[in-house]
Amino acid sequence: MTQGRFITLEGSEGVGKTSNLAFMEQHLREAGREVVVTREPGGTPVGEQIRALLLDPANQAMVFDCELLLMFAARAQHLQEVILPAVARGAWVLCDRFTDATYAYQGGGRGVAAARIAELESWVQADLRPDLTLLLDLPVEIGLARAGARGAPDRFEQEQRAFFERVRQAYLDQAAAQPGRYRVLDAGQPLEAVQAGIAAVLDEALAS
Ligand code: TMP
Repeated sequence: MTQGRFITLEGSEGVGKTSNLAFMEQHLREAGREVVVTREPGGTPVGEQIRALLLDPANQAMVFDCELLLMFAARAQHLQEVILPAVARGAWVLCDRFTDATYAYQGGGRGVAAARIAELESWVQADLRPDLTLLLDLPVEIGLARAGARGAPDRFEQEQRAFFERVRQAYLDQAAAQPGRYRVLDAGQPLEAVQAGIAAVLDEALAS
């Protein structure tokens, strides 16, 4: 049995997480790993219901603390039901967003104090952190144009450009502060170049 890993994929809207996640899954399966692909908010039946509440554009009245607590409520369920058992049995968990997204969106975007997020992080996760985080980075204008082509905007996608500029900056700040865990990839490159970068990062993880 190989050692399990917890790998997260992060980035603002329209950076190409979905197609690159499929590439990552395939790359790791070809290397013989059991792969579990999941996402936040969501990843469990309870969590997907919480996700629906969070993304519903009708929920304009949701206050920032409610949003923050729902993110961590879904996360608590996700950790116990999916992530921890999978890593314990040796699987490689690929998670589309995790707590770094809370620091970026609720922290950077909404202005919630990082210390408040850190309290919930240590309560819900204890000392669990991703082994590796890939950040797909792209200028906000390009990402929003790509995301805008996808149909009706959810509650987050309805935010203004300045919100996403703060989200992007918060991600870049986290990556700079935690270079051991983060790998930043320029998502503005042609897809093949992005995937070559991802493959190199995964091969490094597979070899360690
Ligand atoms: P997406 O990952 O499918 O784009 O949608 C999830 C949305 O939820 C996205 O706009 C980012 C947001 N989000 C947060 O605001 N905080 C979080 O902690 C997570 C996991 C996601």
